[in-house]
Amino acid sequence: MKVAITGANAGIGLRAARLLASEGHQVIALCRSVERGRSALGDVENVEVRQLDLSSRASVQDAAAAIVADGPLDALINNAAVFDQSQRRAVITADGHESFWQTNHLGPFEFTARVSGALAAARSPRVLFVGSKGIITMPRIRIRYEALDSPDWYSPTRGYYHSKLAQTMTAVHLAELAGPALSVACLRVPAVRLDADRLAAQPALLRALYAPKNRAAADPATIAGIYRNLIADGTPRAADAVYVDEHRKPVALPRFAAGPTERARLWSETSAIVGAPEWHFDGVRA
Ligand SMILES: NC(=O)c1ccc[n+]([C@@H]2O[C@H](COP(=O)([O-])OP(=O)(O)OC[C@H]3O[C@@H](n4cnc5c(N)ncnc54)[C@H](OP(=O)(O)O)[C@@H]3O)[C@@H](O)[C@H]2O)c1
Repeated sequence: MKVAITGANAGIGLRAARLLASEGHQVIALCRSVERGRSALGDVENVEVRQLDLSSRASVQDAAAAIVADGPLDALINNAAVFDQSQRRAVITADGHESFWQTNHLGPFEFTARVSGALAAARSPRVLFVGSKGIITMPRIRIRYEALDSPDWYSPTRGYYHSKLAQTMTAVHLAELAGPALSVACLRVPAVRLDADRLAAQPALLRALYAPKNRAAADPATIAGIYRNLIADGTPRAADAVYVDEHRKPVALPRFAAGPTERARLWSETSAIVGAPEWHFDGVRA
């Protein structure tokens, strides 16, 4: 298989890139920093490191165009995300979006659409999105259509789960629209151990708060194995089986994500924000 993985230089994405490459798959490791990507993966056979900054629409478009030019793409793993809890104030990107929202939702949405021609050219294409189990601590979370990018309600926790809710809704809606032409899954990832350098970059208080969580958290290599198993299974899933836990069992969607009307609204609003990119699967519309 030819597999593209976002955020492949660290954490789960790095372990997934190494695992898939070791099994002989051709891996396109999409990294915000090519230098960090090469230093993590430079000596690994079957891996090509390329630049992709999901918080930049220009970078999303360039990276997607290069993938489309290369021909069929069997699988895309939308792994990258920012969830830096030390980012206490909203950061607005050069494109004018709150950075968690653009990196974790708008970027992956536009990138998936723009590589959909390469996916559609593959025999049995698969896309994996990544949600977060921590969202269950926010049962009333909803999409804030009235202020998607607003610094007014932002906190790193709210911004992160808002973007993960949107990713989860996008996965289910894409599965519904594409039907059997595309296998879509969204893994509800539990707490995962952060890499030591990521942890060391946090302020002392956050390091202390993370320490017990990090000890109890899952090994990123274990979750990478689940990514691999989910994309290896190219059977298209019914929409109610898209959202799965670490045992690959379907789990209940966050309450707000369960409504098809809300999913369709988020889809059309997101699409309009990122310039209504064309999708190359029958039934999937901007
Ligand atoms: N860790 C957990 O406890 C946990 C729990 C639930 C869900 N998840 C989800 O699991 C996935 C992987 O998390 P992880 O634990 O492996 O995190 P991680 O170690 O922090 O790795 C995140 C990856 O995303 C990349 N990234 C961040 N901003 C980016 C941007 N603007 N453009 C492109 N790439 C960018 C990072 O690149 P840089 O090195 O350049 O920053 C890094 O490669 C994420 O979707 C996360 O939300 C994690």
